[in-house]
Amino acid sequence: MKLIIVKDYGELGKKAAGLVADEVKSNPKVVLGLATGGTPVGMYRELIKLHQEESIDFSQASSFNLDEYVGLAATHPQSYRAYMQENLFDHINLPAGHTHVPTGDAADLQQECASYETAIREAGGIDIQVLGIGNNGHIGFNEPGSSVESTTRVVQLTESTIEANARYFASIEEVPTQAISMGIKTILGAKKVVLLASGETKAEAVRLMLEGEATADVPASLLQHHPDVTVIVDEAAASQL
Ligand code: GLP
Repeated sequence: MKLIIVKDYGELGKKAAGLVADEVKSNPKVVLGLATGGTPVGMYRELIKLHQEESIDFSQASSFNLDEYVGLAATHPQSYRAYMQENLFDHINLPAGHTHVPTGDAADLQQECASYETAIREAGGIDIQVLGIGNNGHIGFNEPGSSVESTTRVVQLTESTIEANARYFASIEEVPTQAISMGIKTILGAKKVVLLASGETKAEAVRLMLEGEATADVPASLLQHHPDVTVIVDEAAASQL
């Protein structure tokens, strides 16, 4: 895995946006794998800037998000669909029909998971997958114990993830306990992976991912099996390396 250490959150966003923009420029029909959470917000801000100031063109690109909370409609303010609209999609020229986020309130969740996998395959696979990392080493919502063979499925969120994500909800009781998430196999199927981490709370997970053994106990460490991973971290997230 290639490691890039940058000074702070601002630099992290710029570096990551530069990598994604290079992909869009070299392949206008790029299939982007996108992530939510606090970490990629700065990257999305930079991508919007690149679209506005340097005319980076997303008109032929498409995107697949990693995950969505079960039970939340696309219109729910805390849904990942709403996050993506607010932080990126509403500000660039990626056509609405080209963006994909799992439907968290689908009537048939198993069917939704299966058709999400099929849609990724039919799009030709993901060219570049952006990832954050959970405090417990999760990627997407693949919690510790997730199999290397897992594909898009309904997952149970751990207590620590529910607590970490409660900051976005009015109370912890409102945080969904399940999500639809791409699996580890889906993520490893992307041609390139870029993982971002910022802040001291991620330092241990970053160390285990890079320096520990590849184990399902730390799902991000399974990226060691992938041939083209770039990890971009700020100095605080690199503090245990
Ligand atoms: C959520 C998301 C992950 C994200 C993680 C870390 O659980 N499903 O994709 O990487 O949170 O979020 P943050 O960037 O806010 O620390």
